[in-house]
Amino acid sequence: MTTTSHNVLPEELEDLVALFDVRGTDTPTPDDEREAALAAPRFGTVFTDHMARISWRHDSGWLDRRIEKYGPLQLDPATAVLHYAQEIFEGMKAYRHEDGSVWTFRPDANAARFARSAHRLALPPLTVDDFIGSIAALVRTDEAWVPSGADSSLYLRPFMFASEAFLGVRPAAQVEYLCIASPVGPYFAGGVKPVSIWVSEDYHRAGPGGTGDAKCGGNYAASLLPQTEAQQHGCDQVCFLDTTTNTYLEELGGMNVFVVKDDGSVHTPELTGSILEGVTRSSILRLVADRGYDVVERRIPLEEIVSGLADGSVREFFACGTAAVVTPVGRLAGSTFDHPVADGEPGELTMAVRTELTDIQYGRAEDKHGWMRRLA
Ligand code: COI
Repeated sequence: MTTTSHNVLPEELEDLVALFDVRGTDTPTPDDEREAALAAPRFGTVFTDHMARISWRHDSGWLDRRIEKYGPLQLDPATAVLHYAQEIFEGMKAYRHEDGSVWTFRPDANAARFARSAHRLALPPLTVDDFIGSIAALVRTDEAWVPSGADSSLYLRPFMFASEAFLGVRPAAQVEYLCIASPVGPYFAGGVKPVSIWVSEDYHRAGPGGTGDAKCGGNYAASLLPQTEAQQHGCDQVCFLDTTTNTYLEELGGMNVFVVKDDGSVHTPELTGSILEGVTRSSILRLVADRGYDVVERRIPLEEIVSGLADGSVREFFACGTAAVVTPVGRLAGSTFDHPVADGEPGELTMAVRTELTDIQYGRAEDKHGWMRRLA
């Protein structure tokens, strides 16, 4: 079996899943309770019966691949992650198609980013095979938890953390990898409607050489205070600027951003090292280019967007990520400006891209780029 493949074939998936020892719970959630939980879950509040887990020891590598009962972890108070935040995670989804089959979207891209994040946080790399095998084994065990309602899915949260009880500052010699799963509907409580954004001039998310392009908990912790500030200004989300000049758009607390101009061009901040390389971001770049738009990845001055909103040359603004998919932005505000995006309603391209992407993910449209992988 390969440990470096980037495109796991269906027959290989069987071998990868077989490596996981399924230690099923003896107290599964009763069918009626599960159905009730699946009816209208709030993002990230309900979890399935099991979790995937692999342990790592410095001297023996990854061992004990298993699916076990979902439940609390017992951690020594000296566990390194609690002190030094040596932790990474991913966000993915499993989608129920009309024929009952269950699929995921570009897991190879998430696996590759997980390995890059692990490298940056001095954690051991997990192979693509173990990453995808763990997800497939968990989804097969908890298949009944994959919802079938419109815009609903099983959100998958693979993560890895330093589990060694040791207060010295060095890479941990003991690490745990887990994947948990949570049935979800829309990320924002209001469903798919435009969100407002506050541009933070006082706080940054990440700087050059930092961890901005790694998906680690610390980046999200750093976004919480500015996010609170955004809410105090009446906005839903915070947008960060670059650390060096405080003038270029970077990303939101947990989503990439796109701008659509009236000349038919589509722009997104280029990957400078401090921006997360979103899987949804790169998929949208492809879909928009397929539609014939001029797609530009570059440094985008905030000033250009503010004046473009004022003079109407910026037609649409949207945010994207696995959890929120494609979310229209209806207003952009900061200490010296406050503008609606066009008429404040969802943009045409924004909603067209959202529909195209979700149609692929839910099996309603042809998967021209070979992005979908069947899990169950
Ligand atoms: C995702 O979109 O999956 C994310 O990881 C963003 C957020 C929920 C942390």
